Amino acid sequence: MDKIVIEGGNRLMGEVTVSGAKNAVLPLMAASLLVEDWNTITNVPRLKDIETFKVLLNHLGSEIIHDPGSGVLKIRTQRVKAPEAPYDLVKTMRASILVLGPLLSRFKVARVSLPGGCAIGERPIDLHIKGLKKMGADVRIDHGYVTVRADRLKGAKIYLDTTTVTGTENLMLAAVHAEGATVIENAALEPEVVCLADALNRMGARIRGAGTETIRIDGVTELTPVEVRVIPDRIEAGTFMVAAAMTKGNVFIKDCPYRHLESLSMKLKEAGAQIIEEEGGVRVLGDYPVRSVDVKTVPYPGFPTDMQAQIMSMMCTAGGLSVITETVFENRFMHVGELKRMGADITIDGRCAVVRGVRSLSGAPLMATDL
Ligand code: UD1
Repeated sequence: MDKIVIEGGNRLMGEVTVSGAKNAVLPLMAASLLVEDWNTITNVPRLKDIETFKVLLNHLGSEIIHDPGSGVLKIRTQRVKAPEAPYDLVKTMRASILVLGPLLSRFKVARVSLPGGCAIGERPIDLHIKGLKKMGADVRIDHGYVTVRADRLKGAKIYLDTTTVTGTENLMLAAVHAEGATVIENAALEPEVVCLADALNRMGARIRGAGTETIRIDGVTELTPVEVRVIPDRIEAGTFMVAAAMTKGNVFIKDCPYRHLESLSMKLKEAGAQIIEEEGGVRVLGDYPVRSVDVKTVPYPGFPTDMQAQIMSMMCTAGGLSVITETVFENRFMHVGELKRMGADITIDGRCAVVRGVRSLSGAPLMATDL
């Protein structure tokens, strides 16, 4: 879909169901490379990134059966040919880097194009590489590719200087078959990391501590395929919550992963919204006027950077002044220019955006630069 036309000014009312989490499916798809036989993933959302990851797995030689209607995705990786992820695919989706760990673990060698920078920041993968080196991999970077080799990875103690979500996942995927114990310190706490660890454990891995800052992986020699259900997408759910709150609506969000959204819920309540847990989901009731709140993005369980643009949109018509600080990515304010085209009053000062609430915004042609 290239264009969405929105007729504004309505309160949002009704019920929506949250899809499976994109950021949980992609690592689960990468985990399929660790077993030869059919792995099944259910509750898979309909998204371009899923299609891109399928193309990547196909390119590697995997067989895929996908029924987008029912959200069932089956992957068999018996005939993986060359463990290489080419530039053309990695450049369209950074999460392709997730195949590095499992390919190395299974084929003793992997060659993956470096993702390079992206619109929201430099986004290096140095910590993925540092961790693999610690596990004994030989790492070479040439012609824009990273090539990693290791006859058998060895368990190691890895400290991540910055909390990285896909970095934690990649190292977990690599460590599953390593010799001995790998300990990842300052690991990412995100629910998607826990979802991956749970799935790997069900496949026969021995991972403890996922969801805490220290994850221990005891290497095993064999994994078996499983059927895994993807957790609901907390960012999609959070976006619905903000949409309901900012339009003074009344929306019941089914399958809302409420306990993964505490930082957002607190902010929405501070802003005047009511959030009511009901059976099977959460109801969000917006109130008038929206009160301005300050927000600082930080890794989970703090306020998610992936919700920063949405809460900023809400603050544009709040009563008062709101300071929004982005600490995760260095350049994640591209939406500010677009909001200003609708009449928002926002000033950027380094990593802070100061939003002065205006009475209303007006419709305009816009470009979507972020979530
Ligand atoms: C994941 C999410 C993305 C979300 C982000 C932060 C997926 C597929 N994507 O992205 O939606 O916005 O987490 O919550 O799960 N960093 C380094 N070196 C590294 C790796 C990361 O310096 O080797 C830095 C990054 O530049 C960034 C910070 O660490 O400033 C966090 O990035 P990271 O958690 O790795 O983001 P992704 O896993 O790419």
